[in-house]
Amino acid sequence: MRAAFLAATAALGLLPSLTLGAADPKLLESCQDCHGANGITSAQDVPTIAGVSAVVQSDALKAYKAKARPCPKVHYTRGDTKREGDMCTVAKDLTDAQIADLTAYFAGKPYGALKQPADAAKAAAGKQIHDRDCKKCHSSGGKDPADDAGILAGQPATWMKATLAAFKKGSMDQPKNMKSVVTKLSDADIEALANYYASEQ
Ligand code: HEC
Ligand code: HEC
Repeated sequence: MRAAFLAATAALGLLPSLTLGAADPKLLESCQDCHGANGITSAQDVPTIAGVSAVVQSDALKAYKAKARPCPKVHYTRGDTKREGDMCTVAKDLTDAQIADLTAYFAGKPYGALKQPADAAKAAAGKQIHDRDCKKCHSSGGKDPADDAGILAGQPATWMKATLAAFKKGSMDQPKNMKSVVTKLSDADIEALANYYASEQ
């Protein structure tokens, strides 16, 4: 049964993971300039990609490639040199095979929450909004990569606020059923949610 299924899906070209190679070390190093060692961020404006499912990561890389998602410029340091960059420039020339290798690599690394301050009252309000509007797709407080909906717990609050604002404005693609709840969020709701996710360690 399983063999027949595999043969059928392979014939349809639905098993790209069987042809995964090793990610290019130079590219991996460049990702870690901004996303931190092993894909765990220490910056407020860059998300952690370690442990985030390959599906979500490759959706993101393809969206940046198509400029269907905002590409804010960020500053980082390599050696002693200060540099500036953004994800549209990073993703522009990546091939599908490189995207598959890079996303598999970072998805396989352990996630780590960013240590950051959070306002307890705002975090409590944020948890209520999360449980009402987000939990059905972002389970376990937004910690489970198997939801294929990203990891929200422990992501930088600054990035989280900018991302929710972009979803609300419609400048970033999102699942249809998420749009209906995110467009109703007030600025105070967004602030509360970002504090809730920041408080989860
Ligand atoms: C110049 C800094 C920089 C470099 C280099 C960089 N990134 Fe990013 N990356 C960012 C920023 C900033 C964001 C968040 C952008 C946004 O707000 O959508 C991001 C977002 C992402 C996301 C989306 C995460 C999510 O959960 O939505 C993925 C996936 C990603 N980067 C992968 C990579 C990979 C793979 C590389 C190396 C090939 C890389 N990045 C190199 C700065 C960088
Ligand atoms: C109907 C299901 C659903 C609901 C409800 C939902 N989401 Fe999502 N969300 C998703 C999926 C699926 C993705 C990943 C989309 C992708 O891969 O492009 C996502 C992505 C995200 C992301 C980006 C994650 C990343 O790493 O790029 C954030 C932030 C987010 N959701 C926040 C929320 C918040 C906050 C709520 C509640 C107010 C919410 N979502 C409600 C399904 C949902």
